[in-house]
Amino acid sequence: MQEASADDAHANAGLKVCLTDTTGDPAILGRLRSTFASLALSEGDLSTYPDAVIVAVDSSTGLTPDVREALAVSRMAGARHAVLLVSKLNALHSAALEHIQDALADFSSKLEMESAVALPVTAEADGMAQLRAHLAALDTGPASVVDAAEPQESGQFAAHIACVSSQDLLPGREYRLRIDGHDLTATLTALKYRLDIDSLRRVPSRTLARGQIGACTIATDIPVRLGESAAGTTAARFTLSDLQTDELVAAGSLEFALRRGVNVHWQPFAVTKELRAAAKEQRPCIIWFTGLSGSGKSTIANLVEGWLALHGRHTYLLDGDNMRHGLNKDLGFTAADRVENIRRVGEVARLFVDAGMIVLCSFISPFRAERESVRALVGADEFIEVHVTAPLAVCEQRDPKGLYAKCRAGHLPNFTGIDSPYEAPEQPDLVLDTTTASAAELAQRVVAVLQERGMVSSPESHQRAMHGH
Ligand code: ADX
Repeated sequence: MQEASADDAHANAGLKVCLTDTTGDPAILGRLRSTFASLALSEGDLSTYPDAVIVAVDSSTGLTPDVREALAVSRMAGARHAVLLVSKLNALHSAALEHIQDALADFSSKLEMESAVALPVTAEADGMAQLRAHLAALDTGPASVVDAAEPQESGQFAAHIACVSSQDLLPGREYRLRIDGHDLTATLTALKYRLDIDSLRRVPSRTLARGQIGACTIATDIPVRLGESAAGTTAARFTLSDLQTDELVAAGSLEFALRRGVNVHWQPFAVTKELRAAAKEQRPCIIWFTGLSGSGKSTIANLVEGWLALHGRHTYLLDGDNMRHGLNKDLGFTAADRVENIRRVGEVARLFVDAGMIVLCSFISPFRAERESVRALVGADEFIEVHVTAPLAVCEQRDPKGLYAKCRAGHLPNFTGIDSPYEAPEQPDLVLDTTTASAAELAQRVVAVLQERGMVSSPESHQRAMHGH
């Protein structure tokens, strides 16, 4: 077997390779890893920004959807070179290699790979010698998809992206974006299209599931400079991970900066939130009621608002059913639509807080991530999370709108608590169990929290203020 020369190892220093086996033959991976070790190559996953992807393929099955997926996903993560190791070849299968080579050439050119080869693994030769020679010859220089001479700075970009996690990639959700060693917060502002893995045709889609790829626009919380890179890595390559668990969700590359990201500025106003709030003699906040349908959120929110209005407070109530008749009437109940529902509601609630109002929000808001995003839109002491609870069986028995019955009869899919998840708050400010006390008593507990936090004055001080002593 040919040994790697010092030159080979040197030429490949820094080349990052990711591996996928679609043959189920562990021996191939073992041989690959020892080849890597001898070439001083690093094997990585998609979070390490691979330059090349190696896929072990069974000659009899060829470019299966699994193989295409491995190639397409790693391409989105920035890999520019593809190698297929075609195993189980024999005399009968010699035509198979040619067939696979043709299919690979076609698919990889559509993916705009810089190089793609299919190497045979036969009973006589395990393909490793050829693989070494091939890897040694690969261009390992940093690849930037943007013109390095002209750095572009923006908070919005067009990007290609692949979902690599079992949780769907959802537009509107905030993720941790890692780029060039920096961590930012980012959202997919829109998914432009999904690319069908077989045909690479554009397909309209609202989300990306594991192994799916597409094109999107991305907004970052602080501007990113494209075209500069540290330590030879490509500045444009990024990963997205879950803000809470840090699980890797997606990998992709930024294509170009969107001008809208640099040309929209904050307009400063002379009248501030503080002045608006002072004029109302109150401290604004969001009281966020979350819980299952039928748990009692809206009933309690209504009572709290009634109390506040009676005590001269300036309030507004945003409610799921009502918002879905207006601003959010284009949204349904898929995970992606619920994310967008809460994102918009959060932005509206933030405006109300800016206007100096106490805003009560009553939404199922089943996902922790979006509730946390809304919390982060306002000051730390301006978001009060109230978990309104009742066992599912009780909510179902109450069934005020007859929706549980409809769902059980199979006429209403994606119903929260039945076939759509509800993630309970981990550290709510208040838990109200509506099976243990009346709605009026529970509403008073919310008022008590507002008084404790100085959002509204306590009964005595209010009396004093009203009577001028
Ligand atoms: S959320 O999940 O996106 O926060 P939201 O609170 O706006 O939901 O709307 C929930 C209301 O929509 C429920 O009170 C119920 O009346 C109605 N609804 C209709 N279909 C569904 C469904 N599939 N799941 C939950 N609620 C639904």
